[in-house]
Amino acid sequence: MPEGIIPTIFDNSGIHVDVRNSDEPLDSNELSERLRGYDGMVSLLTDRINATVLEANPQLRVISNVAVGYDNIDVETATRLGMAVTNTPDVLTETTADLALALMLGVARRLPEADAFVRSLAWQRWELMPSYLGTGLHGETLGILGMGRIGRAVARRAVHGFGMKLLYASRNRMTPEDEREFNATYVDIESLLRLSDVVSLHMPLTPETHHVLNREKLAIMRPSAILVNTARGPLVDEAALAQALAAEQLWGAGLDVFEDEPCVHPQLLALQERVVLAPHLGSATSETRRWMVSMAANDARAVLSNNPPQNPVPQQS
Ligand code: DGY
Repeated sequence: MPEGIIPTIFDNSGIHVDVRNSDEPLDSNELSERLRGYDGMVSLLTDRINATVLEANPQLRVISNVAVGYDNIDVETATRLGMAVTNTPDVLTETTADLALALMLGVARRLPEADAFVRSLAWQRWELMPSYLGTGLHGETLGILGMGRIGRAVARRAVHGFGMKLLYASRNRMTPEDEREFNATYVDIESLLRLSDVVSLHMPLTPETHHVLNREKLAIMRPSAILVNTARGPLVDEAALAQALAAEQLWGAGLDVFEDEPCVHPQLLALQERVVLAPHLGSATSETRRWMVSMAANDARAVLSNNPPQNPVPQQS
């Protein structure tokens, strides 16, 4: 039994389950080796399940990802090899939307700077115009890129809770009723970037959306704008974003995801003002993470028991 494996848990379906007791990612070769002999895997988003891993393990019948995003899995190869891939949608929608709003507020009201200021004992008196003056969200224009489940949950909070105006760009346009509910205007990406005070990303990472915010697109944004990313790091050219922030071409950013996690671009780390960084914790509440694990485990069990999974991801060919 390889090191770190808790062996032989039998659940009530009679399926033999081994649990790897570590979040440390394995490289392709290690993962390929570890999966030998297993019919299914419950994976984390840090497991890079590429063609090498899948082709080395054609016996796999299911990969259940503990995440709504599944850009860590080569779904096309899994489909070709007849393997099911599942994910954990819905359960993390509200939790992730909460974090997007927390980042907006944290940047707009400069909470990490204010917190550091108080802790440093530098606070001498109440000031009318302190150095950490923020900006408001009420009445500002929010641009949502990607109006899926999480995008809509963010829209609901921002429009109905904070009185923000809403622009959105998305693969699919909402129904007229939904647009009316949010008083939302459907626009192209360039218009959204040009007109929004806050831009929040909620699209999946695909070859088409990689660097959807590249240097040129970032340059369209307002110098007073805030960028929030709780989706996937590679949607944004991180080096270009760091430069834009350093050059004050953008007012601020709230980032929960990064291009090369857990590494963060050094220029971003060096920015002390109006930039809030979080370690990919969009769904990180204890109740949501427990739900995600149990959904993924249930879907692995379903496939291995010859039943349809609840949350199959679309097959790709
Ligand atoms: C996801 O589910 O895709 C998030 O990034 C992690 O919760």
